[in-house]
Amino acid sequence: MKREFDVIVWGATGFTGRLVAEHLDRRHGAAGDLRWALGGRNQAKLESVRKSLGDSAKDLPIVIGESLDLDSMQSVAKKAKVICSTVGPYAKYGSPIVQACAENGTDYCDLTGEIHWMQKMIDAYSTAAASTGARLVHTCGFDCIPSDFGTWFIQKEIQERHGVIAPAVKMRVQAFRGGASGGTIASMLNMMDEAKKDPSVMKAMNHPYAINPEGERSGPDGPESFRPYHDKDFGEWVAPFVMAGVDTKVVRRTNALLGYEYGRAFRYNEGMLMGSGPIGAMKAGATTAGIGSGMALATLSPVRSLFAQRMPAPGDGPSPETQAAGFFDLRFFAQHPTDPARSLHARVTGDRDPGYGATSRMLGEAAVCLAQDDLEDKGGFWTPASLGGEKLIERLTQHAGMSFEIVTRAHR
Ligand SMILES: NC(=O)c1ccc[n+]([C@@H]2O[C@H](COP(=O)([O-])OP(=O)(O)OC[C@H]3O[C@@H](n4cnc5c(N)ncnc54)[C@H](OP(=O)(O)O)[C@@H]3O)[C@@H](O)[C@H]2O)c1
Repeated sequence: MKREFDVIVWGATGFTGRLVAEHLDRRHGAAGDLRWALGGRNQAKLESVRKSLGDSAKDLPIVIGESLDLDSMQSVAKKAKVICSTVGPYAKYGSPIVQACAENGTDYCDLTGEIHWMQKMIDAYSTAAASTGARLVHTCGFDCIPSDFGTWFIQKEIQERHGVIAPAVKMRVQAFRGGASGGTIASMLNMMDEAKKDPSVMKAMNHPYAINPEGERSGPDGPESFRPYHDKDFGEWVAPFVMAGVDTKVVRRTNALLGYEYGRAFRYNEGMLMGSGPIGAMKAGATTAGIGSGMALATLSPVRSLFAQRMPAPGDGPSPETQAAGFFDLRFFAQHPTDPARSLHARVTGDRDPGYGATSRMLGEAAVCLAQDDLEDKGGFWTPASLGGEKLIERLTQHAGMSFEIVTRAHR
């Protein structure tokens, strides 16, 4: 595939897009082993991003386009091997570039967590992508790389150590620190608005296998639990995790795309660890109630406008200091099918705030992995772990501040 660029960072003027550009500039410079460009709709803003990258980036090319115009997106997609998109809300602005990539054999990765939109894209463009060889990978940020690769990693470990696959894996959030950007808040609010208008959006969000390949949208897992409970495998109380609705579906799609390497009876869930004893129980109850009432309130217009005034606007997000002080620490449990003593615990960490400092490096590495690594070449909608496998996990640990290790439960 001969193209002018290896990668276009599409949406390089946005909060996350700028961070992806900074990461690629640090890793590859403008004249290194990666031919890449800054892309977006506004020449002056793109020039200012290029300037902010410093002298090393002064010759970095700029590509202009309008996300809602299909002809414009066709011409952008034809220029690159990979489009790395941070233009969101994706359900609002993202469909033409996905269509253009699928039809032109251009690889694509993004940061969406909008399940109903992913389902729509998979159903509409899988056939085109299969015929052109375009490989499209949604959810290449904190949503859902740690969950997807954490499960892939612990399944590989239990297989290598004990010769079995785990019929069930759980992810538990031990701790994290970070903030939200205006773009993420806009995407969440847009999803709530769409769910209010269109019942099929809510149906997709509540369906545990909503983004499995067509014809394979069933399995043993039910909808996400929204109650606190005691988890004996961790010895702690658990509250719901807000990203679980996206992460769990991506992990299940990975299993399907890998030909059910985790088994057809495989089950997966996520939650947040709240501690043990009566204090843990109280914290789990209060956190569950807080999340539930927060989500209910966010659908009310007066609360929405108050929220909009206090939260970052599109283009804004956590400061560099908040990003640097951020981190995440996730724990995985893989159940041995017959011998509980040989079940495994794993720890997956990241050394910056999950949403931006960590996410921008995960997405940048996913884009370069698509452009440069020797991966499966079948076109279609992949997940990060099903396509990236060994190559991407190596990049994540070497260049995105992530770690994957087998630990004992007591490990802190
Ligand atoms: N999965 C994760 O872990 C994760 C983490 C972080 C962010 N995200 C998602 O990533 C997305 C971006 O977030 P963000 O905070 O970076 O958003 P943002 O700062 O608002 O940036 C949005 C970008 O989209 C561009 N854009 C908007 N409409 C366009 C159009 N019609 N044509 C061309 N470009 C257009 C904007 O260009 P202008 O500058 O010209 O307006 C800007 O570059 C959101 O959907 C967010 O939810 C996901």
